[in-house]
Amino acid sequence: MTDTHSRPSLPLVGAHAGRSRRTCALKCGDACFHEPPNDSDNGYFADVVQQVVSRRSLLKGGGSMLVLGATAGATTLPAAPAAAEEVATAATAHPEGGNSGTGLRFTPIEPTPFYVDDLIVPKGYDSIVTIRWGDPVLRGAPEFDVERQSAKAQAGQFGYNADYVAYFPLRGSRRGLLWVNHEYTIPDIMFVPGTYSADDPTREQVDIELQAHGGTIVMVRRTGSRGTGYQYRPRSRYNRRITMTTPMEITGAAAGHEWLRTSADPTGTMVLGMLNNCAGGMTPWGTVLTGEENFHQYFANNDLVTDPEVLAIHTRYGLTEGESDRKWERFHDRFDLAQEPHEPFRFGYIVEIDPYDPDFVPRKHTALGRCKHEGAGPALTDDGRVAAYMGDDETFEYVYKFISRRRYRRNDRKHNLRLLEEGDLYAARFDGDSPPEELERYNDWRDPGQMPSDGEFDGRGVWLPLVEGGESKVPGFTVAQVLINTRAAADAAGATKMDRPEDVQRNPVNGRVYMSMTNNVDRGVGDNPGVDEANPRRIDKNGVIAGNKYGHVVELQDNGNDAGSTTFRWRLFLVCGDPSDPTTYFAGVDREDVSPIAAPDNVAFDNRGNLWIATDGQQLTIGRADAFHAVPVRGDERGRVRQFLSVPAGAEACGPEFSPDNETLFVAVQHPGDPEVAPSVWPDGQYPPRPSVASIFKTSGNPRIGT
Ligand code: FEO
Ligand code: CA
Ligand code: CA
Ligand code: CA
Repeated sequence: MTDTHSRPSLPLVGAHAGRSRRTCALKCGDACFHEPPNDSDNGYFADVVQQVVSRRSLLKGGGSMLVLGATAGATTLPAAPAAAEEVATAATAHPEGGNSGTGLRFTPIEPTPFYVDDLIVPKGYDSIVTIRWGDPVLRGAPEFDVERQSAKAQAGQFGYNADYVAYFPLRGSRRGLLWVNHEYTIPDIMFVPGTYSADDPTREQVDIELQAHGGTIVMVRRTGSRGTGYQYRPRSRYNRRITMTTPMEITGAAAGHEWLRTSADPTGTMVLGMLNNCAGGMTPWGTVLTGEENFHQYFANNDLVTDPEVLAIHTRYGLTEGESDRKWERFHDRFDLAQEPHEPFRFGYIVEIDPYDPDFVPRKHTALGRCKHEGAGPALTDDGRVAAYMGDDETFEYVYKFISRRRYRRNDRKHNLRLLEEGDLYAARFDGDSPPEELERYNDWRDPGQMPSDGEFDGRGVWLPLVEGGESKVPGFTVAQVLINTRAAADAAGATKMDRPEDVQRNPVNGRVYMSMTNNVDRGVGDNPGVDEANPRRIDKNGVIAGNKYGHVVELQDNGNDAGSTTFRWRLFLVCGDPSDPTTYFAGVDREDVSPIAAPDNVAFDNRGNLWIATDGQQLTIGRADAFHAVPVRGDERGRVRQFLSVPAGAEACGPEFSPDNETLFVAVQHPGDPEVAPSVWPDGQYPPRPSVASIFKTSGNPRIGT
């Protein structure tokens, strides 16, 4: 990385933060370019609560999160072991010296210009590519050849646009199974130049796209004992492709509901494939949860839906009229709502897959609700049930929590594999404790960034029940209706509209939940909702209302640090951006040595509980390549964000995932060469760029990442 590269001009996307228009169309169905589909009028509780909750009672009754966190044990689980299940033991921190005790000692990299086509890691680190789009993973699959692509070949090859990564051990950190989401395709740069037309794709091209979606399970092995990365093993019996045509079971109270029935599946219980799988999580029993996110974009002709109730729900989920961007409906009737109006009801779920069982039929769990699921962060409650924290990734949407009815049982895989089929579902309401005028003051462009007088954006919160004890808690909704039309149920319950909730994960070391709000350029703009204390930013430094361009990270702690609690305390941990921007906030730490960060997305934790944040869209917000950042959550360094890596030109940084020994960090390089951001020939040095998973390791000193 140098500054001697010639600098192309930044692509223009108007006020919309993040990425290019074509990428927006293909990735999230133009989520930023249409009106937010949430036009519900559920209120802003910060305003209401401020009048009824005095600061005094808060201080008296609640104590501070810091105190709670210091005393409570944590029960979130690390990655499940291979052969046998292992009960979550209270995770312990492993201080490694330094005044923070967090052991983060790497030298941060400089923020990388967005056009640099390389994977940049800190001094003393190196990386290798573990697996690339098109690499054969199944027996008989051919090597990648851009000129000889076929749906059949792609069905046995690693899929496109690697996103969430999860490592499942077979022999500890030496050998394991890698789960990788394939969120979406960019046909514009998948094929031989000049052979793909967005207006007129061929059937074979469309069918290649169907096979390039989904996920991959692949065996990976360390290339040496220490200080090396992982390579994938072709032809392992565990290797598996999940695609848009893989049969899946629909579970839970909504299974079989009339809205889930189609002409291909009159029972409403089986569906082919999953769509737009973004992030995910690992259960204590060693399965992967993967979230179907922007499924709406694959369906055409919402204007031709005749049932007004169905039409209203589809519209609330952002389905649109006319042709779809990919035009799959031309070859497959199920993507045409005029022919199959119920098909979208069969997408938008958390899907569970057992990577250790190559014959496992993936399960779409309706009990966890239906939305644009970013992912799911599992944890055990104090009484042994399974909770999952979830974000619905769209502007002004909600954060959710599921809690299973039954308890986790160690070494009872059959039992555990059914835990996510039944339980309670909640949506989050965040009540701030600072008066509205202090939020106005923070956004005053003449002197922006003045924090509330209590020093923080913080408050209490409630998990509002949507389904509890097997019953709907939303008037007018049956349980099945809540689980299929979850957004409307959360509207009715009065959940807080957030700035695009992305990854939501519980830190196994301190038990707190970290939630990325990636950005919301519509906050406070026009008729859209204004600020509240959990989403306090709506202005840029030029005095033009620009919403929340850079995003923020919320830290939540359930009462008693128990994932089973229905109340919590919260505070903003980071308000992102360039630290020279006075509206940024880094847990109160001095902004001087902080790396710029924007568009926080996927999160992970190392064994010491440090938070690692991947970004999606720094190019067009702060002009820098997307990145991994590491940040301590305790001690003197709490909030000090340091940039660890940057990804090649046009790419988004996904993962992150650590090997169990923390000596390898996996990064998924998604959409290198995004055609409207910057060209790339990574990783092969030639067209086409290939979305890949790389492993990063140290070349000297303590082999643990970050030390
Ligand atoms: Fe696929 Fe929420 O980003
Ligand atoms: Ca406050
Ligand atoms: Ca994401
Ligand atoms: Ca992402």
